[in-house]
Amino acid sequence: MKNLLLSLLVISTTFLEAQNPLFIPSTITGTSINLILDTGTTQFYPGRNTKTMGANGILLAPTIIMERDSFVNITVDNQLPDTTTMHWHGLHVSPENDGGPHSIIPPNTIWNPQFTVMDKAGTFWYHPHLHHHTDKHVSMGIAGLLLVRDAEEASLNLPMTYGVDEFPIIFQTKGLDSLDQIEVHTEMDTVVMVNGTLDATVDFPAQIVRLRVLNGSSQRVLEFGFSDNRSFSLIGTDGGLLSAPVSLTRYRMGPGQRADILVDLSSSLGQNFKLMSFGSGLPNGHYGATAPGIQTWQLIPGYPDNPLNGSNIQLLDIDVVAQTSSPILTIPTTLANFTPLAASSADLTRSITFTVAPGAPDLGGPFLMNDTTFVHGFVNDTVLLGATEIWSLNNHTGIAHPFHIHDVQFFILSQNGAPPPPELQGYHDVVLVPGNFSNVQFIAKFEDFASDTVPYMYHCHMLPHEDMGMMGQFLVLETVGIDDINTNWDNLSIYPNPTEGNITIDGLKDLKTIKILSIDGKLIKKTDVSNSVSTKIDMPTTKGIYLLEIISTDGNKTIRKIIHY
Ligand code: C2O
Ligand code: CU
Ligand code: CU
Repeated sequence: MKNLLLSLLVISTTFLEAQNPLFIPSTITGTSINLILDTGTTQFYPGRNTKTMGANGILLAPTIIMERDSFVNITVDNQLPDTTTMHWHGLHVSPENDGGPHSIIPPNTIWNPQFTVMDKAGTFWYHPHLHHHTDKHVSMGIAGLLLVRDAEEASLNLPMTYGVDEFPIIFQTKGLDSLDQIEVHTEMDTVVMVNGTLDATVDFPAQIVRLRVLNGSSQRVLEFGFSDNRSFSLIGTDGGLLSAPVSLTRYRMGPGQRADILVDLSSSLGQNFKLMSFGSGLPNGHYGATAPGIQTWQLIPGYPDNPLNGSNIQLLDIDVVAQTSSPILTIPTTLANFTPLAASSADLTRSITFTVAPGAPDLGGPFLMNDTTFVHGFVNDTVLLGATEIWSLNNHTGIAHPFHIHDVQFFILSQNGAPPPPELQGYHDVVLVPGNFSNVQFIAKFEDFASDTVPYMYHCHMLPHEDMGMMGQFLVLETVGIDDINTNWDNLSIYPNPTEGNITIDGLKDLKTIKILSIDGKLIKKTDVSNSVSTKIDMPTTKGIYLLEIISTDGNKTIRKIIHY
């Protein structure tokens, strides 16, 4: 009788929770990478059609595997009805190749970035980045993993057989409307998927298995762990391997963040356990916790209606099956060799403060960074090529924001003044900044790529926040060449350049008109100076490169490039 009841129970649960084999995106290897973006129809539920987008398929995108130091040639053929862009999240590439909001790909056109892979072995990803539309294009399906391999990783005897002992784990939640269509900027992201699969199940061999985890959700924080609380080894973060594995039972990942994880299943043959996101373990003020804000009065409309919030969510049903031939059975004790940048090496500290936009009633946004919202033609910050900078992030809102910066990998220096725990001591390009006046500081070096015209982005990786303008842009400027513009004035001296605010011009004669122009030649301000050989002028408040034009009454004219940083 008891057995009968038990089997009935088992049957009914199986019936309710139909399980689907975990989809494993295909791979692209080699240096010629061709992506075709298109729309399609996916049946997340049998018989129910949902419009989706994908690269080389109807949903998601292939896992691109790149070798460090190789030169890759990529084509992105946009067959979507929308303009889009394609960003290589975490890769250190020039701003022209970065695929930010400036590098648009109109429908029926092909974008052709080409670059040398400079990053260390790590877990990167790629996704569209058109301003206002990032959430739409990512939620509808365009997102793929990008793995960089290198010689150091190859020497470590890590699991590297994709789909056999190394698995992509792309965590996403989606909201579907009553017509089964994907909703954008929704708080009702009730459908949980891994690699686009609902109620996913997978067989892992009884050996060391490597998980390349991406929190690819639009907003939701992932509290990674296993149902039986077994421990796992974190071996890498966003942009590279750690110096040594860190044993954990939970790992918190903001949207956009990646983790490289080993789990030792060598004595688990025949076991079944689940990969979970432990929403009940998230502190309030993290999207996915019981309350979205730190204070109970801080609300997001619709948030309490989503049953995922504050709950433990099953992501993957795992069965441990027989070992593969020549399995990897040990976890190396040391991993990558690197020296984090020291705080003492910083040239300057830059602060970014997050606030709720005036008039925004709650935690639904919009949010501002340094009191500004994203404006396409406005450069928020300029960084000098070669500079090492500390970025100090101040969160004056009630919710945690995952801050992401392009161009660099950074090292976290402190969280509310405390040094980071071992699991946060590696390479990052996203860091979760908790709410309620928390401060996170990181250090990065801005090397190799400069441009007067194409900026890099920094932004919150909660895609609705980003789309609503919680994003800024920075130019990396090369300082060489700023003084060699032809001058007809002997003894003219203009200093300091680069400047933090104003410049002094010495050696003037006659009546002069001094103009400051934007880099594309628009007049920003103009002053006439007479009876003085020296004058001091304030640079426009927006940082960037300007042209200084000085014209004398006798027709002498000189133009200098001035960097305001
Ligand atoms: Cu993953 Cu600027 O983005
Ligand atoms: Cu990015
Ligand atoms: Cu945010």
